[in-house]
Amino acid sequence: MSEQIPGNDLLVVDRIETFIGQFHILENVSVCVPKGSITVMLGRNGAGKTTTLKSIIGLTPPREGKIIFDGMEIQGKQAFNIANLGIGYVPENRAIFRALSVQENLKLAERKKGDFERKSDFIFELFPDLKRLYKLPGNHLSGGQQQMLAVARALVPENKLLLIDEPSEGLAPILIQQMMEAIRKLSETTTILLVEQNFIMASQLAERYTIIDDGKTVQEGLMKDLIEDTDLIHHYLGASIKTRKELEMEHESEN
Ligand SMILES: Nc1ncnc2c1ncn2[C@@H]1O[C@H](COP(=O)(O)OP(=O)(O)OP(=O)(O)O)[C@@H](O)[C@H]1O
Ligand SMILES: [Mg+2]
Repeated sequence: MSEQIPGNDLLVVDRIETFIGQFHILENVSVCVPKGSITVMLGRNGAGKTTTLKSIIGLTPPREGKIIFDGMEIQGKQAFNIANLGIGYVPENRAIFRALSVQENLKLAERKKGDFERKSDFIFELFPDLKRLYKLPGNHLSGGQQQMLAVARALVPENKLLLIDEPSEGLAPILIQQMMEAIRKLSETTTILLVEQNFIMASQLAERYTIIDDGKTVQEGLMKDLIEDTDLIHHYLGASIKTRKELEMEHESEN
């Protein structure tokens, strides 16, 4: 289905099936994430994107299939053991401690003593706002700043792979731009599996894509090919999504 360089995948999700209670949520999901790149997972609301990330990190362990990270099978391991292998997870909806300061939020994200001190320069270069708001409690931050803090928490420990769930959700366009720049810079040092509904953002960041529909992987490949495939985009991602080509055409007709 895909054009991969053998042996270059940091993460391989191989035909996993995940149940939540009696519900068969993921029926057949496969995702490959090559080292050193951004792969985006696309799909309609309720398709199973978040459940896939939770299956990888061990919060909703798959009942069938394999998950191979850095050459090692990780399905069935406890979530904290999976995280300790070097996988950071940024859940949807700005998961931070709202009563705690920015500093405390970052300090609590340490996996090893001194993680925060080692990474603080890098984090504040990426998100200068967080340096300015260092002493403020999370609930004094704007939605965008909370989202940045949620991403920053995943950067405190040394991670080889980051799973980031809808970082642009509910953000104003200017903050989406900032978040995009931060993710782009991050990808220079860390491999990223991103869930993103904002197709413009997804298409500008990711090298590869996977589409999940109704608990199944239905398509994967290179983002440059998907951008050209208006029918595929509309079929699986909904008619409301505009491709870059369509936006460019609209822009041209306005000028
Ligand atoms: N705790 C749960 N109990 C029962 N069903 C659940 C539970 N969590 C998720 N589901 C169902 O599993 C399916 C997949 O949900 P999931 O959150 O993975 O979708 P998603 O692709 O991340 O959607 P969204 O774009 O809305 O975030 C949905 O039909 C959802 O209703
Ligand atoms: Mg989700």
